[in-house]
Amino acid sequence: MQTLKFAVLPGDGIGPEVMKVALEVLEAATEPAGLALDFEEADVGGIAIDKQGSALPESTIGVCEKSDAILFGSVGGPKWESLPPAEQPERAALLPIRKHFSLFANLRPGLLYKELTDASPLKTERIPEGIDIVCVRELTGGIYFGPKETHTLDDGDVVASDTMVYKRSEIERILDVAIASAKSRSGKICSVDKANVLTTSVLWRKTATEYIAKNAPELELSHLYVDNAAMQMARDPNQFDVLVTENMFGDILSDEMGIVCGSLGMLSSASLGTQNNQHGHPFGLYEPSGGTAPDIAGQRIANPCAQILSAALMLRYSFGLNDIAEKIESAVKQAVMDGHRTGDIAFGTDPIGTDAMAQAIKARI
Ligand code: IPM
Ligand code: MN
Repeated sequence: MQTLKFAVLPGDGIGPEVMKVALEVLEAATEPAGLALDFEEADVGGIAIDKQGSALPESTIGVCEKSDAILFGSVGGPKWESLPPAEQPERAALLPIRKHFSLFANLRPGLLYKELTDASPLKTERIPEGIDIVCVRELTGGIYFGPKETHTLDDGDVVASDTMVYKRSEIERILDVAIASAKSRSGKICSVDKANVLTTSVLWRKTATEYIAKNAPELELSHLYVDNAAMQMARDPNQFDVLVTENMFGDILSDEMGIVCGSLGMLSSASLGTQNNQHGHPFGLYEPSGGTAPDIAGQRIANPCAQILSAALMLRYSFGLNDIAEKIESAVKQAVMDGHRTGDIAFGTDPIGTDAMAQAIKARI
């Protein structure tokens, strides 16, 4: 029997409760195919600070290193908000784990089912068929990881700086991910930059133009400045298919994409690394795009779909099990279409809880 070896990092807030049911759905989807789940749980985020004094303990990294992928919940919450910013769970766990495992490619599907267009702040007539786009965000470079410093000047003034740095090779490897994604979709890539101002963006645009002309000339490439891209996202998101952009622009644009797609409770994400696992597929981290939702944590009413869909992405990218991933994705969609909905996507229908939602999905696999 083939086993799927992965690390489970539930984290804080709603993380543990949606993780629990996601693992049940994963088991229901993989067992009939003769696959066994072999996962090990470890602490991350606020709970790891409380129990072990660090948001990303060495032991947790060790568990991840022994695995072929990481299924991640979410981290952070009011309890740790008074810590210095650099020690808060979001920053002290997420950024180091991305860097440690070279998780350079962040794929965020912006998916809104036709049946849920009411969830979007956009008028339904602008998105009659729902939304289906994907944001490919560079995740280990740029201003997040360039040199930073704060110092006091002779006159007592204080100066702080963050530096945006990109190498052509870093741009090319994220373009490879965008190219693969575009080839499996409609063949369109929009590269987002700020080439009218930033030198990193000038390199980004030149590299995108040359690299795609050379390696994927059949794709249709367009470029947008990030301010315009933000506006277009709010006007007509479906004009995009695959967006590719640098780290911070991708952070901002993917949040905007999240809100035009309605509930964050439906949005999954994959962060792929440079290393292949023992199956010959990229090592990756898979997490919901939303946060820990502390206001509803522990009530078992959170929408588990984003966590379940993230588990499906893990099967697809890190284990090469596209068929089973599709099975899970169809089951989620069917459950929603059949009217099984948690509070965030209920719109007048009777909302159900986390467990009932997961049961409805399991029943459709
Ligand atoms: C995200 C988050 C993180 C980021 C924060 C929590 C460091 O906003 O995954 O988008 O900025 O990358
Ligand atoms: Mn973000």
